[in-house]
Amino acid sequence: MPTLRQLAVETLTHLSERGESTLAVDADARRILREWLLAARRGETAAPPAAAPQPPQSVEEKLAYLQQRAVRWKPALRLGTLRETMVFATGSPHARLMLVGEAPGYEEELRQEPFVGPAGRLLTRILAAMGLQRSEVYISNVCKFRPSMGAQQGTANRPPTEEELAACLPLILAEIRAIRPACIICLGATAAKGLLGTTATVGSLRGQWLECQGIPLRVTYHPSYLLRNETLSARRAVWEDMLAAMQQLGMPISPRQQNYFTTSSAP
Ligand code: URA
Repeated sequence: MPTLRQLAVETLTHLSERGESTLAVDADARRILREWLLAARRGETAAPPAAAPQPPQSVEEKLAYLQQRAVRWKPALRLGTLRETMVFATGSPHARLMLVGEAPGYEEELRQEPFVGPAGRLLTRILAAMGLQRSEVYISNVCKFRPSMGAQQGTANRPPTEEELAACLPLILAEIRAIRPACIICLGATAAKGLLGTTATVGSLRGQWLECQGIPLRVTYHPSYLLRNETLSARRAVWEDMLAAMQQLGMPISPRQQNYFTTSSAP
């Protein structure tokens, strides 16, 4: 199973491949990095010793291990700005399509499952229009904890900050590496910021294939944006991104599906 050192090396490699050349780290992280550097200078490698337990082999084992780690994920929890219930992911470990959202909200935290609130119900309907069930795809979030709003929380939600995103990033990257889906749909600007490191708008990112860890990735509007903006053009834009994903996956597309939202023909 990957050690913290291996996860850190993978995350730093990903950030450097993305063109990042600097990273803000706190005193604890500096101390740990210095220890690793000294160990590397002594010729000790990041690989576990020969007698260590075998790393998990199957995708299920890898995800179970990650989920276990995520529950007490110190980089996120020690910020003190995220709530403590970890919401991991749902769906098939063998999914070819992975959908990545922002962070759990009120209902997701309550049920400990991503996308089960109003935005989630819309996402489930979009998937059904594609001919897919939730259990056939993999649904996750870039941030695994509901961002805290202190005393005013109630049922309100807020997007995660950059610091909160960075703290959770190793988890979603490890999920992507474990599953290796055929394509990823990034739901909204926050997920795109996490996976692509860009602050560009969804409007400027969507409609093209991008890449995360060598996997084709498409950015589209978050379902909660569609709930606020029920125009035909917004719905068609999301649907075109889903059609592109279906094509990428080699799924059949009926003439009826092709034409959803070109007129008032809703699924
Ligand atoms: N919005 C998200 O981005 N993720 C969820 O899990 C729920 C709502």
